[in-house]
Amino acid sequence: MAELMDGKALAKEVKRALKQEVAQLIEQGVTPGLAVVLVGEDPASAVYVRSKTRTCKRLGLAHFDHVLPAETGQAQLMALVDELNADTRVHGILVQLPLPNTIDEATVLERIDPRKDVDGFHPENLGRLMIGEPRFVPCTPAGVMRLLDAGNVDYVGKHAVVVGRSRIVGKPVAQLLLARHCTVTMAHSRTRDLDEVVRSADIVVAAVGRAELVKGDWIKPGAAVVDVGINRVGEKLVGDVAFEAAAERAALITPVPGGVGPMTIAMLMENTVSAAKLTLG
Ligand code: GUN
Repeated sequence: MAELMDGKALAKEVKRALKQEVAQLIEQGVTPGLAVVLVGEDPASAVYVRSKTRTCKRLGLAHFDHVLPAETGQAQLMALVDELNADTRVHGILVQLPLPNTIDEATVLERIDPRKDVDGFHPENLGRLMIGEPRFVPCTPAGVMRLLDAGNVDYVGKHAVVVGRSRIVGKPVAQLLLARHCTVTMAHSRTRDLDEVVRSADIVVAAVGRAELVKGDWIKPGAAVVDVGINRVGEKLVGDVAFEAAAERAALITPVPGGVGPMTIAMLMENTVSAAKLTLG
């Protein structure tokens, strides 16, 4: 039976340390500030945004919430980003995705000052990650790595299979595993013989957004399995991995919920504190 990688407990630890760091920064005259922009009424996004605000309050960060109607135009959103870029109280800017399809996501993300891009989605920050000089690492991938590190996972020369190729998770997490000297395979929903690919993985990161796509008998005995998926099936939340069966074979596995989810917000707070420190020079 696998050992659980407990994201809730690890996130708590990270936040405890951050709270002290925030207090020290405030003593030095800098209150780290996060601006969160939500366009429209996607219920899941609204839940995430509330949770980010709550965490800012708990840790002593300033937060600036901007909730805009779904009809907001691109120009109006760009003007808000410009305003936040110029606001010295704001160290981090997060525009909640997905945006309504009337707005071009890439154009908005590129408008964010890369030094305030605590999501790490700006092409400059993703490029820096790719060349091994990261500034802000996207929060979910950073949380995945923190969980694996805490589990003392051995990376060097190991085969890591990332299932999913999104800008938010799959692509950055593959770069981070590569930087730890894994041999990385980027698989996705169209990969041929996905089961066989996953069977050879010492580390599996599942981030495709398909309920229990990764079956228990695909897991190599002793593997470390990180499940980034959050899928609603009826009343239940399930991951991209069939948890019960996978846990029989894995050495380490994350639960859903309580695995990667709590780590994402902790990493966002960490990035915002780093952004505030950047302004101290
Ligand atoms: N939507 C889902 N995950 C994320 C995230 O990490 N950042 C933003 N901005 N939007 C998201």
